[in-house]
Amino acid sequence: MAIVHFLILLLYVSCISLALAQDENEFIYNGFLEADLRLDGMAGIDHNNGLLQLTNNLSRQQVGRAFYQFPIQFNTSSSSLSFSTNFVFAMVPHLPNLGGHGIAFTISPSTNFTRALANGYLGLFNDSNDGLPTNHILAIELDTVPDPEFLDITENHVGVDVNGMISNQSTPATYFSNEEGKNISLDLMSGNPMHLWIDYDDAEKLVNVTLAPTTIPKPDRALLSTPIDLSEILLESMYVGFSSATGTIGSDHYILGWSFNKSGPAQSLNISSLPSIPEQRKRKEKSSPVIMISLIAVAVVLITVAGAAVYILRRKKYEELREDWEEEYGPHRFSYKNLHKATKGFKDTEVIGVGGFGKVYRGILPSSNLQIAVKRISHDSKQGMKEFVAEILSMGRLRHRNLVQLLGYCRRRGELILVYDYMPNGSLDKFLYSNEKPNLNWVQLYRIIRGVASGLLYLHEEWEQVVLHRDVKSSNILLDAELNGRLGDFGLARLHDHGTNSQTTRVVGTVGYLAPEIYRTGRATTSSDVFAFGAFMLEVACGRKPIEPIEGLGSPERVILVDWVAECWSKGDILDASDPRLEGNYMVEEMELVLKLGLFCSHSIPAARPSMKQVVQFLDGDADLRELPYDSASFGTFTSNESSDFTSLPFSQASGPSMSTTDSILRDGR
Ligand SMILES: *[C@@H]1O[C@H](CO)[C@@H](O)[C@H](O)[C@H]1NC(C)=O
Ligand SMILES: *[C@@H]1O[C@H](CO)[C@@H](O)[C@H](O)[C@H]1NC(C)=O
Ligand SMILES: *[C@@H]1O[C@H](CO)[C@@H](O)[C@H](O)[C@H]1NC(C)=O
Ligand SMILES: *[C@@H]1O[C@H](CO)[C@@H](O)[C@H](O)[C@H]1NC(C)=O
Ligand SMILES: *[C@@H]1O[C@H](CO)[C@@H](O)[C@H](O)[C@H]1NC(C)=O
Ligand SMILES: *[C@@H]1O[C@H](CO)[C@@H](O)[C@H](O)[C@H]1NC(C)=O
Ligand SMILES: *[C@@H]1O[C@H](CO)[C@@H](O)[C@H](O)[C@H]1NC(C)=O
Ligand SMILES: *[C@@H]1O[C@H](CO)[C@@H](O)[C@H](O)[C@H]1NC(C)=O
Ligand SMILES: *[C@@H]1O[C@H](CO)[C@@H](O)[C@H](O)[C@H]1NC(C)=O
Repeated sequence: MAIVHFLILLLYVSCISLALAQDENEFIYNGFLEADLRLDGMAGIDHNNGLLQLTNNLSRQQVGRAFYQFPIQFNTSSSSLSFSTNFVFAMVPHLPNLGGHGIAFTISPSTNFTRALANGYLGLFNDSNDGLPTNHILAIELDTVPDPEFLDITENHVGVDVNGMISNQSTPATYFSNEEGKNISLDLMSGNPMHLWIDYDDAEKLVNVTLAPTTIPKPDRALLSTPIDLSEILLESMYVGFSSATGTIGSDHYILGWSFNKSGPAQSLNISSLPSIPEQRKRKEKSSPVIMISLIAVAVVLITVAGAAVYILRRKKYEELREDWEEEYGPHRFSYKNLHKATKGFKDTEVIGVGGFGKVYRGILPSSNLQIAVKRISHDSKQGMKEFVAEILSMGRLRHRNLVQLLGYCRRRGELILVYDYMPNGSLDKFLYSNEKPNLNWVQLYRIIRGVASGLLYLHEEWEQVVLHRDVKSSNILLDAELNGRLGDFGLARLHDHGTNSQTTRVVGTVGYLAPEIYRTGRATTSSDVFAFGAFMLEVACGRKPIEPIEGLGSPERVILVDWVAECWSKGDILDASDPRLEGNYMVEEMELVLKLGLFCSHSIPAARPSMKQVVQFLDGDADLRELPYDSASFGTFTSNESSDFTSLPFSQASGPSMSTTDSILRDGR
């Protein structure tokens, strides 16, 4: 009994001394049970084990933050800006390799980030204050989604950020192995805990960032050693902590332990006493052979005992097609059974769209409650299927906030099933042309145009390969929960390498959005995408389809939107073309810009059209359209020598479905 009392007393005394050691400019938390943190957003501490969770894998476009309760004194007038910190974190994505967006260790003058955005902003900035020196923020980002707007280098990088999300320096996640004398890459989203050290020495003016798995001590060489003079950035009193955000898809972002010191090297964490992250969230390790064998044995027994017949019947129902070459796509493969469940057995009530390719269903993944859109594409031939699937799946790596994210796929005999992120607001054409949806205001419409332009710019110029969309039109623009415009339906998009021409010979696309040269050459280019984007801009600004039958009588005459807008311009008032439903509630400069830019993109000579980069510059006001000469002869789909081609085409349905089927893609150019 006495011994127990003595032990309790000992524990008590050591707790007091620990608390005393925690002066406000240094602290160490091996787990956060006793921690004094300011939590914000989704962040929470597990009261059983002290695990700090910033965001969870089901959260989308959410932030979570945790800052040390008290501000740290950084005395800018003396040379005491040095600090040292280290922490252990883990990121478990919603789906293997698909999650986001990351965690940033942050030093900030305030913990009020009310207006900051999720996604690539990591809960630190918004689009109006990103990059401003008045922010006084230093962040070390652990970023798992490449954002082209922030010039991110890979989907797995560490960066040093000053006042904005464009990193001063960044590098793919690796660590230096002292034993092997070389760099070894680390997957931030592996789900395994990792250790990060950040050290700043005021004399050297270097921010050193060092990464390692928790199984080894701090490596001798830093991952990043970035020259920065913190006296220009830090204020006298600063908060330290973490900010984390999710995007279209979320991750569990955890901090397991954290040590900070203002007066010397931060003590290393005691790895063995850190809380562990929930078992099932860790990526499945490869099971040892012995376990595997016993598992297989158990499975075999179970299957035979539990009635092989039932099993075989089920197999048939959920049968899939799987080939060796697909192995590399393994992570993005969905089981048919899960998709079947998600869509209630592909029930008709779950259909949210019918396109040239097949039906699109709404679904909810049973394991995670993630809402998805499931597109079923049937095909007859197996020929070219491999290339087609490979091509489509490589597009799963495209990441941009104005693209509909492809999450994965499944294959069955005669059928390819694509799984996309679900867009709760449906397609833009429903807003433009149907009375079920409310009218959008000009601010929303302009933001959609601007967003789609930056998505298309990403496809054309910012990814590793040139991707042509080939079917830009309002019914392929989907709206997410915040009414951001996102380009969807990459079924028609085909890849081709920078600098080489595509070898396409068949016309794909939609009448009214097809550039005139396509009828001659049958070849899609970035300029033909620009043409379609021009038609789309006019469509949004005027609230009319690119080609519309004239009201009343079954007259064969049609209004060609481009010609009509050009005519309004020539008569001296281009604003007459604007959508009457807006009732003049728009910014005149913006409306004029969109209409003129739409015409500019619709130039009959491909070389005269702007590039998407220029389009984005015009829309952002970074370039001036005033010098654009009025030239009615060149605007429009159909100049005189094209008109014969025009009449020979099947135009009975002016804005009908895309002139293509999956078959044609498969045959196309192959
Ligand atoms: C900051 O450093 C200067 C010079 O060492 C000293 O005079 C001043 O009292 C310090 N201020 C604080 C708040 O510690
Ligand atoms: C945070 O700042 C906003 C203004 O940006 C203000 O409205 C809000 O009250 C502040 N919140 C707190 C908790 O101070
Ligand atoms: C961006 O954040 C700053 C700082 O909190 C705020 O003053 C500003 O109003 C925000 N801008 C927008 C567009 O939300
Ligand atoms: C890098 O950091 C400095 C401050 O030391 C800042 O002024 C500069 O704009 C940063 N550069 C980039 C590319 O962000
Ligand atoms: C930072 O790294 C450099 C080498 O890259 C080293 O010389 C320096 O001592 C390091 N500073 C700290 C504070 O760790
Ligand atoms: C290892 O990584 C460091 C930091 O990123 C880099 O400077 C160095 O060149 C790399 N060394 C090798 C052998 O790749
Ligand atoms: C901070 O540094 C001082 C001086 O090196 C050391 O005595 C102290 O233990 C450190 N504290 C922490 C929490 O790392
Ligand atoms: C680390 O934690 C373990 C388990 O809580 C404990 O047994 C060990 O003494 C600790 N080590 C140090 C150096 O504090
Ligand atoms: C996502 O989080 C939920 C609840 O936090 C958990 O039940 C589920 O297993 C997690 N999914 C993954 C893939 O980790």
